[in-house]
Amino acid sequence: MNKNINDIKEKGFLDIHIDRSLNLVEEINKLRKEKNAVILAHFYQEADIQDIADYIGDSLGLAQQAAKTNADIILFAGVHFMAETAKILSPGKKVILPDLNAGCSLAESCQPKDFKKFIKKHPEHIVISYVNTSVGIKALTDIVCTSTNAVQIVESLPENQKIIFAPDKNLGNYINSITGKNMLLWDGVCTVHEKFSLEKILLLKKENTKAKIIAHPECEKPLLTISDFIGSTSALLNYTQKDKSDTFIVATESGILHQMKKESPGKNFIPAPPNDSTCACNDCEYMKLNTMKKLYICLKYELPEVTVDESIRKKALLPINKMLEISRKFNL
Ligand code: 13P
Ligand code: SF4
Repeated sequence: MNKNINDIKEKGFLDIHIDRSLNLVEEINKLRKEKNAVILAHFYQEADIQDIADYIGDSLGLAQQAAKTNADIILFAGVHFMAETAKILSPGKKVILPDLNAGCSLAESCQPKDFKKFIKKHPEHIVISYVNTSVGIKALTDIVCTSTNAVQIVESLPENQKIIFAPDKNLGNYINSITGKNMLLWDGVCTVHEKFSLEKILLLKKENTKAKIIAHPECEKPLLTISDFIGSTSALLNYTQKDKSDTFIVATESGILHQMKKESPGKNFIPAPPNDSTCACNDCEYMKLNTMKKLYICLKYELPEVTVDESIRKKALLPINKMLEISRKFNL
C-alpha cells in the first residue's frame, strides 16, 4: 500500500501493471457490484467511459446525482472540482478519481488568497462562482452556478444587486449580455473553449451552409456571436435532438459528440476545430487523463481518494445547496 501512496504522490494515479487480456468492462462491472459503487461520468469523457457509466451528464446533473446516490463509493469520471463537489455533497461516501491530475484551467485561475482580496475590495457585491472552482473558492461564495442554471441564478437576485462572477469571464460576459447585468468578472478562461478557430469554423460553415453552429458559453464572444445556439453540454445535446437540421458544427469539447451521435444517429456532427493544431477536434487534456485502465485500478484499490477538510466543506456546502434549491424551482 505504501508504494501505492507514493505513486499517487508522484504521479497522481496508481501506476500498476495489469494483464492486457483482462476484459476491463467485465472487471469494472464486477467491482462496481461488489463494492456498491456508482460511476458518474461527464460528457467530455472518452466514449468507452461514457458507455460504462451509471450516469452521464453535465456539471449540474452530476452534482444532483452525487447528492442523491445510495452507493457507498462514487467513482468520478471527470475532473477534480467535480469529484470534490460530490464529496462536499456526500461526505459519508468514498469519492475516488482515477487521476488526481485531472484539474481545470478555470479552477486553477482562481486561488483563494487572491480571490479573498478581490472580494474584500468590493464588499457590497454578492459572490457567484462557477462550479469549476476549488472548495476554497466555494467557501468564499454566496451561490454556486453551472452553465445550465447561471442565467436563472443571476436573475433570481434583486435588480440592482451588485455581483462578482468568477472565474470564467467568457461565461460572465455571456450572462451579462443575456440578463443586462454588469457583473464584475474574474479574469479566468477555459483554455479548451478559448482555442477554437473562428476562421476555420467560418470555412466549415461555408462548406456546410445548412449546418447549425452550436457553442458552449465558455467560448469567446466572436464565436458566440456567430452561433445559432449557445448552451451547457446538456442543453447542446438536447438542441441537436430537437432541432430539425441534419448537420451541426459543435464548439465544445469533442467528447460530447459521442452522445450526440448516439441520440441522433441520422445526423452529422462536425467538431469545431482549434487554432493551434492539425487535429480537427478540441480535447480537454484534463478530462482525457481518465482511461478505462485507470478507472479499473481506481475502483479495485479505491484510490486515489478525494478528501475535503470538514470545516471548509461545511462552508462550501451552503452555496452549492443554494444552487440546487434555485435549480429545483426552475425544474433544472
Ligand atoms: P457543463 O457540462 O456543465 O456544460 O460544463 C462544461 C465544462 O466545461 C465542464 O468542465
Ligand atoms: Fe476546465 Fe475547460 Fe477542461 Fe472543462 S473543458 S474541465 S472548463 S479546462
